[in-house]
Amino acid sequence: MNLILFGPPGAGKGTQADYLAKDYGFAKLSTGDMLRAAVTSGSALGKQAQSIMAAGQLVPDEIMINLIRDRIQQPDCQKGFILDGFPRTEAQAKALDDMLKSEKKALNHVIELKVDDQQLVERIVGRYSCAKCGAGYHDTFKKPHAAGVCDECGSATFSRREDDKAETVTKRLEAYHRQTAPLLPYYMKVGVLTTIDGLADIDEVTRQIEKVLGTKEKIAAQH
Ligand code: AP5
Ligand code: MG
Ligand code: ZN
Repeated sequence: MNLILFGPPGAGKGTQADYLAKDYGFAKLSTGDMLRAAVTSGSALGKQAQSIMAAGQLVPDEIMINLIRDRIQQPDCQKGFILDGFPRTEAQAKALDDMLKSEKKALNHVIELKVDDQQLVERIVGRYSCAKCGAGYHDTFKKPHAAGVCDECGSATFSRREDDKAETVTKRLEAYHRQTAPLLPYYMKVGVLTTIDGLADIDEVTRQIEKVLGTKEKIAAQH
């Protein structure tokens, strides 16, 4: 099963993708994470992407399409994959359709996490992650069980994203409304779109998504 988690910055795409990847054994393809890894490694791609991301704008389509094309051919995507942060433009959506067709893969679900812009700023500005394993946290909504210690790996070092400043968040929201949200009517027409209330708490959102995808057992039986 292949799906897209769709929604504005801070909607909870990454949070939910982590849970679903664990629960269902799908590969998580987060273009934002891939780009941030490239920036950290200092690769040519990272050098190109860094200033664009810091400005809250979108990295050129051609780069993103090539990244995803390579990625979905990897063996860990055979069982299914979750796209987090892709597609973000009409050109990316079209390229995704073409690559799925040539790989003989289906797009089973597009799950939109609907949240209002006001909430998003609060979520993003409070977000941080483990510098060692990448596990995501929030100052208010998702604190580690023991203060200052990562639940997943025990590390005490955390970091915040460079593009999570309030003024950059506004730019990212603008880019979402202008370039990405217009894809929703297309997925609605194809018949794969489900909209979920992203304002519910994290566990409730996971439950709602699992309702759409079917139980783990159901999916296991399909393979
Ligand atoms: P990307 O990394 O994709 O960022 P984004 O889309 O802006 O989304 P975020 O990661 O900010 O939010 P999220 O929905 O994952 O929310 P999260 O789960 O963390 O992209 C970054 C940049 O890379 C882009 O601006 C662009 O420059 C570039 N880029 C990436 N892909 C591209 C593409 N395809 N084309 C062109 N450029 C591209 O949740 C947020 C916080 O809220 C967390 O702290 C979490 O704990 C908390 N939270 C989550 N759910 C809930 C809930 N239900 N209740 C309360 N708190 C919650
Ligand atoms: Mg994310
Ligand atoms: Zn950790």
